[in-house]
Amino acid sequence: MSERVEIFDTTLRDGEQSPGASLTSEQKVIIARQLDVLGVDIIEAGFPVSSQEDFRSVRAVAESVKRATVCGLARALEKDITAAGKALKRASRKRIHTFIATSPVHMKYKLRMSREEVLANAVRAVKLAGKYCGEVEFSCEDASRSERKFLVKIIEEVIKAGAKIINIPDTVGYSYPSEMEDLVRFLIENVRGSEKVIFSVHCHNDLGLATANSISSVLAGARQVECTINGIGERAGNAAMEEIVMALKVRFPQFKTGINTKQIFRTSRLVSNLTGVFVQQNKAIVGKNAFAHESGIHQDGVIKKAQTYEIIKPQDVGISGSTLVLGKHSGRAALLKRARDLGFKLSQRQLNKVFAEFKRLADKKKNVYDDDIVALLEKDFGGRSSGYELESFEVVTGKLNPIALVKLKKAGKIFTGTATGDGPVDSALKAIDSISGKSGKLLDYFVNAITKGKDAQGEVRLTVQFNGEKVSGISSSTDIIEASILAYISALNKVVGAGRKKK
Ligand code: KIV
Ligand code: ZN
Repeated sequence: MSERVEIFDTTLRDGEQSPGASLTSEQKVIIARQLDVLGVDIIEAGFPVSSQEDFRSVRAVAESVKRATVCGLARALEKDITAAGKALKRASRKRIHTFIATSPVHMKYKLRMSREEVLANAVRAVKLAGKYCGEVEFSCEDASRSERKFLVKIIEEVIKAGAKIINIPDTVGYSYPSEMEDLVRFLIENVRGSEKVIFSVHCHNDLGLATANSISSVLAGARQVECTINGIGERAGNAAMEEIVMALKVRFPQFKTGINTKQIFRTSRLVSNLTGVFVQQNKAIVGKNAFAHESGIHQDGVIKKAQTYEIIKPQDVGISGSTLVLGKHSGRAALLKRARDLGFKLSQRQLNKVFAEFKRLADKKKNVYDDDIVALLEKDFGGRSSGYELESFEVVTGKLNPIALVKLKKAGKIFTGTATGDGPVDSALKAIDSISGKSGKLLDYFVNAITKGKDAQGEVRLTVQFNGEKVSGISSSTDIIEASILAYISALNKVVGAGRKKK
């Protein structure tokens, strides 16, 4: 049996069904192009009959993706299949994915159909879909709660009708890994004609088992997994593509996917930015903390040998490196390393002194940033960096063009800059550019509330490009414009302060 596992990405269809995640057709095309670069095999671009916008999106994706197969979803109804067929007309490679529910509860209460009617509709749908494209996928919705005998029957009939891919969804995330493994194995062994088709699974995450269920299904013989970027999707979401791909790579390397894992993080951020669905901090593989270590014991281990606490190289998923978060649990080893990275060489005596001050600061402050460390080091060991400091700022915003006035201090001198821009943050950052003479291109910009309440501290993380050099900055304040300015200055100082005196 082939060890190649096809990745069927449904971010643009099931993922878009996440509450609040709706995407325009332009945004879908941007994501689809990135999915193509990422190396997914199939892109399920939408449900064409569901709305005119969805129809347009599937058509637009079909026209712009050249490598991956583009797929449209259709219930087992003539109008759905016709719409999918039309939307996919110009795709280089296309697939219609048609489905009908097969579980007793769905057939009785939702469809109000007998088994015979469900069977007849499924066969008719697959035959009709086959007239629009050669590749037809059939899903038995709620398969994991369906009767096995009926599943075998309907799958045998749709294979005869021309289905090439048989998908077994755990629609409500009810199954568990050994059960899913057993079901997939049972179907492959008992369905006549199973050797002619690819078995696929589509697992939801209601019990947090979607990735585990998908992996178990692969072990049982499934050779397609359906998943979404960041695991977004209906309710608790779908199986996360990045988790499945990395779990196979790390634990079951005999199974190959076509994914270029170095594109994972970039894709995750793109999907999060365009859907507005945040990635939880501790999310496996792509969460902010996935490669961050705070405890002293872990930091010490990671500094000595990354594999002590990391099973994946961050670079393998497109993250530049692991982070040692400096906080109250951190130890000397991490502080020494950060000081070194910031250009300071410390003796044991100096380290002891700074470490004591750092611990006092970490007890008071939720996050200790690089700028805080630099301030501590410079206070103790003299010498100023050649960087800028914020003196004051004013921003006038409203219906007219926002305007910002920013005063920065450098080497004891005050510099003033003013600028207008697209919003208060844009104008403030442009005012800083007018002082430094360096025009920064904002590549990433994230605002996060790090404390609760109306006076919450906002944390801004950004990445800027100055003359081709990419630098990042992070800062926090109760005023997000101030946090943005401080984060920007901290990034700028990494460029202008490159000549910082090494101690
Ligand atoms: O969850 C599900 O069953 C689905 C089907 C349409 C495949 O999304
Ligand atoms: Zn689903």
